[in-house]
Amino acid sequence: MFSLVAVPLLLSAYTSAQYTATYLPSNAPPTSEQDQSGTNQCGSGHSQTSMCQNVYINSVQDFCLWAPPSTDGTNSTIGETERIEVAWCMKDGYGTRLIPDGTIKGAHFVQTPDYVQVTGFGDFTKMNIPAGDQGGELDPHGADGNGNPIGGLVFGSSFGQLQQYHEWTNYMAVDQFCIRACKDSPNAPLLCNHIYDVMGCNWNMPGNYDLGVFENCVGDTGPAMGIYVEGNTTSTFQQGQPVTPPAQPAPSSSQCSSFSTIQNGQTAAALPSASSGSSGTTTSTGSGSRMTSTGSSRNTSPTGSPSATTTAKSSAGHVVPTSMGGMFAVAGAMILGLVGGAVFVL
Ligand SMILES: *[C@@H]1O[C@H](CO)[C@@H](O)[C@H](O)[C@H]1NC(C)=O
Ligand SMILES: *[C@@H]1O[C@H](CO)[C@@H](O)[C@H](O)[C@H]1NC(C)=O
Repeated sequence: MFSLVAVPLLLSAYTSAQYTATYLPSNAPPTSEQDQSGTNQCGSGHSQTSMCQNVYINSVQDFCLWAPPSTDGTNSTIGETERIEVAWCMKDGYGTRLIPDGTIKGAHFVQTPDYVQVTGFGDFTKMNIPAGDQGGELDPHGADGNGNPIGGLVFGSSFGQLQQYHEWTNYMAVDQFCIRACKDSPNAPLLCNHIYDVMGCNWNMPGNYDLGVFENCVGDTGPAMGIYVEGNTTSTFQQGQPVTPPAQPAPSSSQCSSFSTIQNGQTAAALPSASSGSSGTTTSTGSGSRMTSTGSSRNTSPTGSPSATTTAKSSAGHVVPTSMGGMFAVAGAMILGLVGGAVFVL
């Protein structure tokens, strides 16, 4: 019913979309947009100083997120770094950074007929997002026509051959994430709509955010964000209108296979900032209390207008303090440092 009502809208959105180029990682140029800070020619393997700006979304074991290339602990909120985010991936081999083990606290991959999506919680201080950052939204349509990040490309092979997804959206906060990439189609611009950029994950991508669960599922395509169909009436919410409608119900999913964890062997202590040997690096230890404060403030948008309907699950009380994990991470880093001959000082 939804798609019947919304078809005229969808078509007009599609024809205005201009895909100037389609790439694969194998034929991408060094940079795909002007003033790009990183690169789309990423090679293979991985490096925690990689400036690769190619993201992949294939499964809970094989997805990437956008996050800052560096931080001094406070200077790299998503808002401040949206133009220069780099790719952090679960899987080795793409020439990107790796998402350090223990970063992701729960992740739910779902493939629908129209898009792939991963939702969950994490400790993204391990990926240069400062404590307390309520985050922001990344997409291929920045105000000047370039992406946020500039030149960011998203790929995947869930629908057959490896392909570029021209429409995608990723919300990153210090403790929560959601990323969706839409198969090219007339529906893609609305199903991957990026205009509700202060509304956060739970409103834009209702789904499973359970902690401690890592799963691959198939699911139904949800209604496009912001478009509500009731009976014969379709209404479109504009961000900033006085009354914020509730999040759409999460579409149903099924055939889930779950895993006790996801990991790639990368430790958080190998962040570049560790090479200075300075204190104040954003490793995992003690992050529990910082996440408490951000989790409870999520329902307030950066503009101060409460998105009263986002029922974001606060991470407060759910995340086990990670001091033990931090100790293991440091021990692991020492071993890796010895084995790999890495230059960081411990
Ligand atoms: C944050 O500060 C560090 C250390 O001074 C610097 O290397 C980095 O470029 C800064 N990052 C941003 C996004 O400003
Ligand atoms: C919805 O549209 C159908 C078909 O035009 C019509 O039969 C029905 O009465 C409408 N329902 C409402 C609540 O307006």
